[in-house]
Amino acid sequence: MNGVDGEFADAVIAGFRGTPKSVSSRFLYDTRGSDLFEQITELEDYYPTKAEISLLDRYSGEIAELAGAGVRLVEYGSGSSRKTDRLIEALPSIASYVPIDISDSALSQAAARLIARFPDLAVYPLHGDFNQRIDLSAVPDGKTTLGFFPGSTIGNLTRAAARDFLENARPLLGRKSAFLVGVDLKKDLNVLLRAYNDREGVTAAFNMNLLVRINRELDGAFDLEKFVHEAVWNEDEGRIEMHIRSLQVQSVQVLNQRFDFAEGETIHTENSYKYSLEEFQALSRAAGWEPLRSWTDENGLFSLHYLGPAS
Ligand code: AVJ
Repeated sequence: MNGVDGEFADAVIAGFRGTPKSVSSRFLYDTRGSDLFEQITELEDYYPTKAEISLLDRYSGEIAELAGAGVRLVEYGSGSSRKTDRLIEALPSIASYVPIDISDSALSQAAARLIARFPDLAVYPLHGDFNQRIDLSAVPDGKTTLGFFPGSTIGNLTRAAARDFLENARPLLGRKSAFLVGVDLKKDLNVLLRAYNDREGVTAAFNMNLLVRINRELDGAFDLEKFVHEAVWNEDEGRIEMHIRSLQVQSVQVLNQRFDFAEGETIHTENSYKYSLEEFQALSRAAGWEPLRSWTDENGLFSLHYLGPAS
């Protein structure tokens, strides 16, 4: 076992030994997981993608005006890069596009699609985890480097980690930088819960795919009939949590080790933090950015924040 596989093995073994059991949400995104997530973004019940795209459609002109000409656009967790077209079209004489993602397959597909659609665009795909240090030294400078972190992926991080991430992004993006961040808003609980317990069961499949991946890659023996998907709101933390709940007392072998589950015990698989507009602006300031402009839709579903260097 090597590289990424070893990392997955270590994360699962350590996470299953902990109390409560947990596995980092980044391991949800194998090829099948990335594909299921793409399906989630198209669900009627999952509002964030649609809400963010309509914000980008409506405000890409304003964003382009703030960013100026000759931008080097760096997208964190780019996935299919489906939202980026709007920005690329709006940004005047864009210098280059740097998509960063942990899924190699998503990255190469997205790069191929964008190069076909924008033949003059310089695309520099970077394979990696946006939480690790990213090296932009091989990518030619733009006039401004605009970080783009859409989809409320920042919501996977704890509030402290989100602040650290934003703080670290400053030197990484360089002296003349700005950051456009898409952030899911706190809202009516029924709307939130519906988005993570969709009626078509795609989110359930996305979550349960972690067990499928463990069975396949780590010689696991999970019986998928004996576990269920669960998504709950944690009011104290202001986040949606995804869990996989054991329906009975059972033991499961993974990599020749035995893990015991009580009836009702869960594996915590993802956090999805939600922010009010003001909460996220305060977090940005604490990280050394100035929130220059924030946009939201009339239903208060989603927000876009344009951060500039703090003066
Ligand atoms: C990709 C982290 C933004 O939290 O809404 C969707 C992931 N999980 N449905 C989110 C997710 C379950 C998504 N993010």
